[in-house]
Amino acid sequence: MKFFIDTANLDQIKEAQELGVLDGVTTNPSLMAKEGITGEDNIINHYKSICEIIDGDVSAEVISTDYEGMIKEGVILADLHPNIVVKVPMIKEGIRAIKYFSSIGIRTNCTLIFSVGQALLAAKAGATYVSPFIGRLDDISTDGMHLIEEIRLVYDNYGYETEILAASVRHTMHIVECAKVGADVITAPLSAITGLLKHPLTESGLAQFLADHAKGNN
Ligand code: E4P
Repeated sequence: MKFFIDTANLDQIKEAQELGVLDGVTTNPSLMAKEGITGEDNIINHYKSICEIIDGDVSAEVISTDYEGMIKEGVILADLHPNIVVKVPMIKEGIRAIKYFSSIGIRTNCTLIFSVGQALLAAKAGATYVSPFIGRLDDISTDGMHLIEEIRLVYDNYGYETEILAASVRHTMHIVECAKVGADVITAPLSAITGLLKHPLTESGLAQFLADHAKGNN
């Protein structure tokens, strides 16, 4: 399973990269705004900075919601770096844009996926990734993980190569559950990724080993 970090924070991207297990980065307009990155030039430069830190896929989201606007923006974003994946919302015009991008070799991430039908449509249009938002489904008392399972089943039925990129991951157990049900990729905050390191028996066991080593060397 690939690990992406879901942030536009350069320090957190560097920290995850140093861990040695990072495969990519996802951003969205809200995450960019959270870092205070506004204005077209600053946003473009920020994507370039992210691509300098990580040698892996970087999702960059279009803002336009009309077909021509998405194509124009997507081509500019894709030209920034070979690792850029153009993130396109799951709307009618977005599906048309994904189909076009796919025909000219621009990779895409279809975002805001909340149903199997949407995931099926995105795969048929040739999306490289689909991003089902599991945390937001959990927020409205729906089972986000069940959506990942259902998309996995449908994609496997027909051999779709579109990768399931589980998004809106909120905590460490979301990552573990995604691995169990066969998500291809998770994108998560740094805290959820580093949460995988933790177990109290690891901490107490290491403390004991170090204490015994110190005793033996006194
Ligand atoms: C990533 O591609 C998504 O935009 C992101 O995971 C959404 O997460 P949120 O629901 O925590 O905002």
